[in-house]
Amino acid sequence: MTAPVLRPDPAAIRQAAAILKEGGLVAMPTETVYGLAADAANADAVARLYAAKGRPSFNPLIAHCASADIAFGQGDFSAQARHLAAAFWPGPLTFVVEAIEATTVCPLARAGLDTLALRVPAHPGARALLEAFGGPLVAPSANPSGRISPTRAEHVAADMGDKLDLILDGGPCTQGIESTVIDARGGHPVVLRPGSVSPADIAAHWPGVISGKDDQTAPSSPGQLLRHYAPQARLRLDVIAPEPGEAYLGFGPGKATLNLSPDSDLAEAAANLFAMLRELDTGHERIAVAPIPREDLGAAINDRLARAAKQD
Ligand code: TXA
Ligand code: MG
Repeated sequence: MTAPVLRPDPAAIRQAAAILKEGGLVAMPTETVYGLAADAANADAVARLYAAKGRPSFNPLIAHCASADIAFGQGDFSAQARHLAAAFWPGPLTFVVEAIEATTVCPLARAGLDTLALRVPAHPGARALLEAFGGPLVAPSANPSGRISPTRAEHVAADMGDKLDLILDGGPCTQGIESTVIDARGGHPVVLRPGSVSPADIAAHWPGVISGKDDQTAPSSPGQLLRHYAPQARLRLDVIAPEPGEAYLGFGPGKATLNLSPDSDLAEAAANLFAMLRELDTGHERIAVAPIPREDLGAAINDRLARAAKQD
């Protein structure tokens, strides 16, 4: 039985909130990727969520909140962290902070850590659901662990439709790459996962940002596991001339099987990345990807591509 797919109108939002209250799983649209939502306070629901994703239980989840005030009631935000949150929330920036005693996010969702990842998403579908539900919702990307994140409701239905209770279809995700995750506990924010909010964006509001710890033997953010976001096909990166038999994922002008952005627009490329990888993954064993500039949003795009290209 595959889950029903509904537009996030008021009746569907009420139904989704009721399913979540009963411990069910709902796929919700966010501006980054589709999330697989469960009640953050309900350990049974969170256990179902880990099982549905096939996610290693040491990998903690992001708690999504309807407002900054709700997030500030879950974790310990410094004055600088609050100032940064005011600049980017609602939006694609996730803060790792110390959990406070009163947090309602269950230990399983935090993978037993004393810290907590919090984000206030911007997508109207996610916001409506969070407001109707009331409390925090944990929501990892709605894909089987290690595979390509979903940027359309159809992706969720194809990959996970039989494992959840309802899919809210809020259209294609506008950002297409998961949120930037920062460790906001110290005097300087540390980027744990690059995303659409760049270190320069952060530095404008909290100077001294440290962009990326690259100790991949002991990932401080388990989304930094080396092989992640992976298609079945073998991926070759920074390719100018594809070999015979390779599908070519282009960037900028020129011939390609699919083109992330013929106009060389990084935001458009990010929004298209996961959907085009999926499309090429059906019917091709080898995919060559054009070089993509590494500045700005290009850093996050190249980060995801490098992980997708890594062989087991
Ligand atoms: O854009 C997004 O962030 C999407 C949408 C659905 O909101 N969600 C998402 O969740 O990408 P997920 O679970 O696929 O990735 C969460 C990342 C992982 O890399 C996880 O290890 C990290 O956040 N994380 C969560 N809690 C953490 C913590 N306490 N300390 C360090 N990293 C943490
Ligand atoms: Mg993910």
